[in-house]
Amino acid sequence: MSADAIRPVKYASFTRLLHWVTALMVVGMIPIGVIMQQDGLERATQDFMFILHKNGGVILLVLVLARLLWRSVTPAPPPPAHLPHWQVKAAFTVQWGLYLMLLVMAISGYVRVRAGGFPIEMLDALNVPSFVPQSDPLAETAQTIHSNARFVLVALILVHVGAALRHAFARDGVFSRIWPPVGRG
Ligand code: HEM
Ligand code: HEM
Repeated sequence: MSADAIRPVKYASFTRLLHWVTALMVVGMIPIGVIMQQDGLERATQDFMFILHKNGGVILLVLVLARLLWRSVTPAPPPPAHLPHWQVKAAFTVQWGLYLMLLVMAISGYVRVRAGGFPIEMLDALNVPSFVPQSDPLAETAQTIHSNARFVLVALILVHVGAALRHAFARDGVFSRIWPPVGRG
């Protein structure tokens, strides 16, 4: 049996698929969240963006929870041996920061909408009850968290993507751990 069969060098195919679906969705959610609140948007366009954002955010929450559950049974492959220790630690911190901020964003968005007494169409169609009471102060607090946490999320994404591109150009075997999104690559 080869060493690679015992210690895989790539993330599992399902992990890679989850990573790229999540990444695409996050990259879409942030501008939609900002643009949908701008003055002067047509009502129908604004409603559509809100529906996309709220329901997309709930799907993202489910995807992140699925990723964390899947991670607990399919751990990440060990880091490439040539990587300096500080880079391994930095990548670890940023990646867990990303998971944390995605949870903060999705949960605060959910609470802001539900405590404000607004619908989340997909969950309503599935008859999922609200997990938070209707409360204006709670909705306001969640809104403040949602609005401010985005800066932390964007900063982490910039560091993460910057480091990933640096590795991709250096062709040092880090980027190919998560690429391609499906198949053996
Ligand atoms: C924008 C949203 C993104 C999020 C939230 C995100 C999140 C993550 C997380 C949490 C991991 C760790 C996987 C795990 O062990 O569970 C990871 C790995 C990785 N991501 Fe992203 N990612 C995003 C976008 C990108 C982009 C655009 C690129 C490439 C340009 C990229 C490249 C990578 C690479 C190369 C790894 C593997 C790093 C390693 O082997 O340690 N990511 N990403
Ligand atoms: C990871 C998932 C999410 C990301 C990255 C995200 C991102 C954003 C961003 C960047 C804004 C603009 C904030 C501002 O301009 O102050 C925003 C606004 C908003 N988001 Fe999200 N969001 C997510 C999940 C959700 C969810 C799950 C909901 C509701 C179910 C939601 C509901 C809202 C609402 C209603 C606004 C408008 C601001 C307000 O009235 O509070 N978001 N979002």
